[in-house]
This record gives sequence, C-alpha cells and structure tokens, in this order.
Amino acid sequence: MGDATTIAPPKLVIQVTVNGTPHRNEVEPRLLLVHYLRDQLGLTGTHVGCDTSQCGACVVALNGKAVKSCTILAVQADGAEVQTIEGLAEGENFHPVQQGFWEMHGLQCGFCTPGMIMSTVALLKRNPNPTEDEIRHALEGNLCRCTGYQNIVKAVQYAAGQITTGSQAVNQSGNVGTPRGE
Ligand code: FES
Ligand code: FES
Repeated sequence: MGDATTIAPPKLVIQVTVNGTPHRNEVEPRLLLVHYLRDQLGLTGTHVGCDTSQCGACVVALNGKAVKSCTILAVQADGAEVQTIEGLAEGENFHPVQQGFWEMHGLQCGFCTPGMIMSTVALLKRNPNPTEDEIRHALEGNLCRCTGYQNIVKAVQYAAGQITTGSQAVNQSGNVGTPRGE
C-alpha cells in the first residue's frame, strides 16, 4: 500500500495575453485552458459543454487558430495570445460574425454560440468566401442542439458578405456604426 497522502504538484507561472490584456498567473499544471479562462480570469463566455472534446462550446482562438480550450492545458498557452468571445466586439459594435448570428437568428438557447462564432471567425480568416459545404465542414466540430444548423449557415454567409463587401457594422442599439478596420 502506498502513502495515502497526496502531494499537489507545484504551481507554475504562466503569462498569457487574453483579448489584448496581459495576464500573469500561477496555475496548477493540470488546469485546462477553459477553466483558466472561466474560473481564474472570469471570462465565462467560453462555455463547457462536454469537457471531452466533442461539442466545440469551448472554442477560442489561440495565436489566431481556433482550438477547443478543453483539450489544452493552461500551461500550453504560456506566452500565447488568446481571443475569446468577449474580445470580439469593438465597443458597441458587434463583430460581423456576431452580427450575422443576430440578423439570421443563428441561435436559440445560445449555449453553443460562443464556440460557433469563434470557429466561424477562424474560418473566415482563412477562407473569406466559403461555400455552404465548406461552412458545414468547418463547423463539424461544433454541435448545436437547437437550431438544425440552417440558420447558422446563413449567419456565416451573412458575415462573409459583410466582411468581403466591407459593409458597415451595426451597433448593439441597432444604429449604423463605423465599419471595422476604419
Ligand atoms: S467543452 Fe470542449 S469540446 Fe465540449
Ligand atoms: S443554440 Fe442551443 S445549442 Fe445551439
């Protein structure tokens, strides 16, 4: 029989820039990135749907790439730039992908939506004008139990149109605001 006493491994210091803000924290080596974001930084817009890499509710951008933050340790993000759903809007102005989900009714309960939106942002960065098949393929790792996906596809197409035509962003009060990037 081994010693019943368990000794916690020493905490490690990580430095992560999240939504443009640098953070320096001590974390347990086994802490998942999603729990670091939610529990240590209070960024609860990133959801935990399964914790087993199935649902995509936890997707964030890590150095510009969409990742499931329940599959990554916080220590693996040391030195990285992370963007979460909280970092997308510019002040009162929604990101075009957020606007697309709003305009096209791409959500019902909204639980999957942060992950859907972060995956879509990554898709439109690498492919600004995706076909419907490409959209569906890119979102295969994001599960939605409510919408049937049709309006999510429309939301992505709306956002792609906004981004490629440089249309004006609309703020959260419904007023036309300054186009992004200007
Ligand atoms: S919580 Fe990460 S994939 Fe479901
Ligand atoms: S809107 Fe409810 S899970 Fe997608």
